[in-house]
Amino acid sequence: MEDYISSFSFDRRLAPYDIEGSIAHVRMLSAKRIVPSKDAAKIIRGLKSIGSDIAKGKRLPKAEDIHFAVEAELVRRIGDVGKKMHTARSRNDQVVLDLKLYVRKAANDVIGKIVKTQKAVLGCASKNSSVLMPGYTHLQHGQPLFFAHHILAYGWMLERDKGRFKDTLKRLDENPLGACAFAGTAFPIDRAKTARALGFSKTSENSVDTVSDRDFIVEFVFASALLMTHLSRFAEEMVTWSSSEFGFVKLPEHLTSGSSIMPQKRNPDTAELIRGKSSKTIGNLTQLLSLIKNLPLSYNRDLQEDKPPLFDAADTALASLDIAEQTFAGMKVNAERMDEECRKGYLLATELADYLARKGMPFRKAHAAVKQLINSLRINFKFGEDLENVPLSELREYSTLFEQDIFKHLSPRLNAAAKNSYGGTGSKALAVQIRNFKKLLK
Ligand code: ARG
Repeated sequence: MEDYISSFSFDRRLAPYDIEGSIAHVRMLSAKRIVPSKDAAKIIRGLKSIGSDIAKGKRLPKAEDIHFAVEAELVRRIGDVGKKMHTARSRNDQVVLDLKLYVRKAANDVIGKIVKTQKAVLGCASKNSSVLMPGYTHLQHGQPLFFAHHILAYGWMLERDKGRFKDTLKRLDENPLGACAFAGTAFPIDRAKTARALGFSKTSENSVDTVSDRDFIVEFVFASALLMTHLSRFAEEMVTWSSSEFGFVKLPEHLTSGSSIMPQKRNPDTAELIRGKSSKTIGNLTQLLSLIKNLPLSYNRDLQEDKPPLFDAADTALASLDIAEQTFAGMKVNAERMDEECRKGYLLATELADYLARKGMPFRKAHAAVKQLINSLRINFKFGEDLENVPLSELREYSTLFEQDIFKHLSPRLNAAAKNSYGGTGSKALAVQIRNFKKLLK
C-alpha cells in the first residue's frame, strides 16, 4: 500500500518549490498572528536549512510524498513546533502551488531555449543566404526557393510556440494557496500577501476550482507537444536531407553516431530521437487529458499521476531544443547538390504558364498548354528535365506566344528572386522577412 500510493520517487524534485511555498505561508501565518512570530521564525530557519541541504545534494528520508517528507524533516530538526506549519493549509492547495511554481520556471526555461534556437535558425539562414534549393509539395519538386526562406519557416513556428508558453504563464498567474482542502478556512489568512510573496499578480476566486484545476499543466504539455511536433518535422528533414539520396546537408559530426557493424555509417541519431521523443510528449498530453476527464470535483488522488507526464514533457522539450539549436548552428549546407536538383523535375513549369498568362492567355489555358508540353517532354525525354534546354521551336508547338525572351525567365535563381509578394521567397521580400524576424529576437 505504501509503495503503491507514494509519489516521492518523482515529486521529490518539487522540493525547492515546496519549501519556497511553505516559507511564504508561515510568514503570512505569523503576520496574521495565527502562529506566534517566535515559532514562525524557528520554522522558517528550519525550512531554509533543509532547502540548502537539498541544494547541496542531500536527500530527504523516504515519505509518502514531498510535502510529508519536508514536514517530517522539519519536525526532526526543530521538534514539535514544526507541526504548526500546516495550519490553514492542505496538501491539496500546496501541491497546486508547487506545480505552478515548477511550471512557471520550466516555461521560462523553455522560452529562453526557444529564443536561442531561433537565433541559430537566423544564423543558419544568414550563413547560406544565396543558396537556392528545390521547394517541395507532396515531397515532389515544386518551385525553386531560397534555402534561407525554407529554414526560416522553423523560426516562425518557434515564435508561435513561444507565444503558447507565454499564454500558459498568463493563465497560471493566480495564487492557489489558501484554497486549503477545497472549501477555504476559518483562520483569518491573507491570500493577497502570499500571492505577492510568491510572485502571483492575482488570487484564485474559487477554492473548489483551485484544487481541481490542472489546466496550466495541460496547457504547458500541449505547448510542449506542439513544439516537439515542429522540431520533429525539422528532424525528419534532417534525416532525409542528410541521406545520400538527397545529400543536401551534412549534420554536425558530434550529433551523429556510428554503427556497431557497418564501419562507414554516420547515423542521424539525434534527429531521429527528436522525432521519436515527440511521440512520447504527444502521449503525455493524451495521458493528462484522460486523467482529468472523468474526475468529479474537487481533489482526487488520481491527480497525483499528473507529475510524470509533466516532468517528462518539460525535460524532453528542453533537451530537444538543445539538440535542435546545435543542429541549426552546425549543419553544413551543400549548395551544389541543391543547385543540381533545381535543374530537375521541370521546376520552372509554373513560370512557363505565368509567362503565357502575362501575355494575355487565361491562366487555366496556359496551365493546360504547359501541362501538355511537360507530358510530351516526359515521354520523349530528349531534353532532360531542365526547361532551359528545351528549344524555342519545341515550346512554340504548344503556344506561339513563346518567344526568345522566355529563356530570360528560365533561370531558377532569377525565378526565385522575383517572387517578391509579401512573405514570398524573392530577394526583396526575404530581406524584409529577415529584418522582421530579427526584431523578434531583440
Ligand atoms: N501527493 C499528492 C498529489 O500529488 C498530494 C496531495 C494529496 N492530497 C490528499 N488529499 N491526499 O496529488
